[in-house]
Amino acid sequence: MKRLAIALACGTMLAGCQTMGQTAPEVAAAPAPARVDAGEQQIADLLSRMSLERKVAQLVMPDIGSITPEDVERYRFGTILNGGNSGPYGDDLAPAEDWLKLADEYWDASVKPLPDGEPAIPVLWGTDAVHGHSNVIGATIFPHNVGLGATRDPDLIRLIGAATATEIEVTGIEWTFAPTVAVARDDRWGRTYESYSEDPGLVAQMGAAMIEGLQGSPGAEDFLGYGRVAATAKHFFGDGGTEQGVDQGDVNGDLDELMAIHAAPYPVAIEAGVSSIMASFNSINGTKMHGNGPLLTGELRGNLGFDGLVVGDWNGHGQIEGCTNSDCRQALLAGLDVYMVPEEWKPLYENLLAQVRDGTIPMERLDEAVGRVLRLKQQLGMFDGEVRPSERPNAGRWDKLGFAPHRAVAREAVAKSLVLLKNNGVLPIREGANIVVAGSAANNIPQQAGGWSITWQGGGDLTEAQFPNATSIVDGIREVASQSKVNVAYASDTASVPRAPVDLAIVVFGEQPYAEFVGDRKDMVFRDERGLELLREYKAKGIPTVAVFLSGRPLWMNREINAADAFV
Ligand code: BGC
Ligand code: BGC
Repeated sequence: MKRLAIALACGTMLAGCQTMGQTAPEVAAAPAPARVDAGEQQIADLLSRMSLERKVAQLVMPDIGSITPEDVERYRFGTILNGGNSGPYGDDLAPAEDWLKLADEYWDASVKPLPDGEPAIPVLWGTDAVHGHSNVIGATIFPHNVGLGATRDPDLIRLIGAATATEIEVTGIEWTFAPTVAVARDDRWGRTYESYSEDPGLVAQMGAAMIEGLQGSPGAEDFLGYGRVAATAKHFFGDGGTEQGVDQGDVNGDLDELMAIHAAPYPVAIEAGVSSIMASFNSINGTKMHGNGPLLTGELRGNLGFDGLVVGDWNGHGQIEGCTNSDCRQALLAGLDVYMVPEEWKPLYENLLAQVRDGTIPMERLDEAVGRVLRLKQQLGMFDGEVRPSERPNAGRWDKLGFAPHRAVAREAVAKSLVLLKNNGVLPIREGANIVVAGSAANNIPQQAGGWSITWQGGGDLTEAQFPNATSIVDGIREVASQSKVNVAYASDTASVPRAPVDLAIVVFGEQPYAEFVGDRKDMVFRDERGLELLREYKAKGIPTVAVFLSGRPLWMNREINAADAFV
């Protein structure tokens, strides 16, 4: 399989293959084996019957915020996505039912019969289910990857992947842009929390476990079947290694050394059968990854042997030198298969079409990329009986969204992801104690959920009402306390002592949610001192304290750690 993939890549590739080193001559000497299996025959047959227009449309992925089902019927896009700020019918806070309804509408539009026996190819929907199906109200929210890395528990991660896949299926979607397998090396980076670890080995292990949970294991009967969705390892590669932790920035250094850190999770993800890999926004030694033939094709296809789909990131192609969001054959030529072009899909589509017609994009390259989109749909079973989203087994099973067994897994993951940095004997809390929980963060579900929760940035105007199945930290403490006769009072942002005497104060404070570049910082100082003040005030009253810090990354906490008797 691996050898064959290389042969295919080299047969049609441009720059990448010439720089492929050892593999190229070996492949050149061997006659290309003919693919005979039924699956490949189906792909070849579909390709032979598709018009140029519809082939090009398979490579264009618009955002649901800027297309209607009529657009899908007219153009027959191969894939669509909902970005972090797009919900069904223009409503980020749309109820779960609307997601499934819209999935049906897009599906129906995509399979309307075409004239002259041209095959109608069902559309594939991708979403950022990055910590649970986290765009959808009512879904189970799991810890972000930085927390999951701290669990050191790949079996638990597999369960999370499987639970997430089921909840995605409830809403009729087939594909997630997860897991992020970035190796964050500078915690000023706003996406640090999407990274399992700074240790490439741990990232690789956790990433593979998540992929297996989402997709099932290659060869298993349920692989990419019901109860499973397609996964994406992202972002290839170097996202966690940018200078000063600047999101989408520059990665510089010796290529082998960079690969040993930042590309290390990919062979393991490929081995785990990952369906797609997303190109990264960053550059490596001056070349943006979306246009980097030697790495996107030579390395990823050639040396790593990946034969799945390479998907672009949000207008990532537009950042290539000489490209715009609406005109960029360079990305396809470098090895990208699908353009994530949320808004400017129409001019991009027209330009790609013209470039195939005038030969500046070779037909072989087009067919190869389209073939990969078709193959993923085939593996997902989308050609078998063409089952409408709402007619699939988990679809519309609203009881499985925020499903109690899934929430039990989430709860275990939260417990195992907590990191205890200090404990002067105040933990565990003794039975019968009187405690006070302080800090507004203790009573703020949107804040504890972080970025990529219902909205792209999370937090902000979101309220508890948008997290119907979630439990706030203070409510969680109350629940457990009632079983062990601990009395709990809540004090929000004043160091009040609602019910004397108090044996212990738990002070909860933390970062406000953020996503991507919005979370970039210039230094590691946590400037919000409300938590620190509460800790000091309780200490002044002679009350021992436990500090609970909610954060997407390690930050400079010396003052808080010193002020508290225990620190989580
Ligand atoms: C992010 C990706 C994400 C995509 C779609 C991009 O800005 O970098 O991780 O999958 O948007 O929302
Ligand atoms: C989208 C996100 C995307 C980001 C990229 C936002 O508007 O909703 O999905 O990742 O833009 O800049």
